[in-house]
Amino acid sequence: MSRKVLVTGGAGYIGSHTCLELLKAGDEVVVVDNLCNSSEESLRRVDDLAGRGVEFHRVDLCDAGELEAVFEAHDFDAVVHFAGLKAVGESCEMPLRYYENNLTGTIELLQAMDRHECRDLVFSSSATVYGDPDSVPIAETAALHTTNPYGRTKYFIEEMMRDLCLADDRWRCLLLRYFNPIGAHESGRIGEDPQGIPNNLMPYVMQTAVGLRDEVVVFGDDYDTPDGTGVRDYIHVVDLALGHLAALDHLPDARGCAAINLGTGQGYSVLEMIAAAEKAAGRKIAYRIGPRRPGDIATCYADASLAASKLGWKAERGLEEMCADAWRWQSANPKGYSK
Ligand code: NAD
Ligand code: UD1
Repeated sequence: MSRKVLVTGGAGYIGSHTCLELLKAGDEVVVVDNLCNSSEESLRRVDDLAGRGVEFHRVDLCDAGELEAVFEAHDFDAVVHFAGLKAVGESCEMPLRYYENNLTGTIELLQAMDRHECRDLVFSSSATVYGDPDSVPIAETAALHTTNPYGRTKYFIEEMMRDLCLADDRWRCLLLRYFNPIGAHESGRIGEDPQGIPNNLMPYVMQTAVGLRDEVVVFGDDYDTPDGTGVRDYIHVVDLALGHLAALDHLPDARGCAAINLGTGQGYSVLEMIAAAEKAAGRKIAYRIGPRRPGDIATCYADASLAASKLGWKAERGLEEMCADAWRWQSANPKGYSK
């Protein structure tokens, strides 16, 4: 049965891939996004790829009036909430901007949902809520330790949703804790389009491969890992998008609030990622070893078993496909959506 889904932050990297999968599944999609870290071009391409469109509203979630107008015009079955600021370093420099945008935006959204009796929500949380884990793989029951303002916004929002579900059992919230999303849709038409210098490894590696950057700096090779470089659980963005569809399918059977990891359960090192990207791009990628990045941890990968048992979802796309798709996007759109 098709649903009407509100997607906040739907013009962004993960949101645009999720909108496409929702359209392909026959759902009706309404997007609200203030375009502070994205462009409407991603949604035009989503429409093209799907052969039908999303309804887009340029709305800031912190603007209660504009958000209310969207809720008044629609009867949503569920909300997928991606909208938020996500740069760790920037959050340390501008904590109030992060708290205001991510927390106020979410509170306005939850209040509008409550007023309009739509209480089914899928939220973008992050493995960042685990901080430096005591052991890997990381299960959802692991202790939460946040290490920066961005991570704390995710933690506070999770707590807010837990409190809401305790106060009113009509709410159903799935808190999806993403590991490291990379890659792009196989068409190469939508992908990740970071503003300025990328903070994350794979966009940096891909921009180096395409000649926009001179070399990758590997942040430390003295970690306690097989080759000394950091190990992460990279997940294909299309697998991640499909995880949201599985979560929406599960919502009617869910009770209260549940946190679920979306990862592959497999870790790769920085050097393994550079080698895989070189293979996909068919060229050498220059790199040098630099100092550790403050706040980084050695190893992080998911125990992905809860998503399998609860949602019937698991990541299907391997490293080779992640890098091939990332390269197809990067080489066809070297400067992202801005040509
Ligand atoms: P993104 O920046 O590409 O997408 C976020 C979107 O939200 C953007 O289009 C932005 O314009 C919009 N937005 C931000 N504040 C808004 C506001 N107040 N009102 C309306 N729109 C607003 O980021 P993404 O990588 O697609 O991430 C989506 C979500 O997933 C974020 O909440 C992020 O924290 C979370 N997440 C991302 C990663 C990752 O590595 N990409 C990992 C874990 C969690
Ligand atoms: C970062 C964020 C984290 C967020 C996650 C997914 C920080 C401190 N943490 O984590 O909160 O949830 O992205 O969005 O920003 N690396 C390099 N050179 C680079 C970039 C990265 O060697 O130029 C290394 C890092 O040290 C790490 C790995 O590559 O070992 C992955 O880095 P990154 O993509 O930034 O993700 P996380 O560190 O997992």
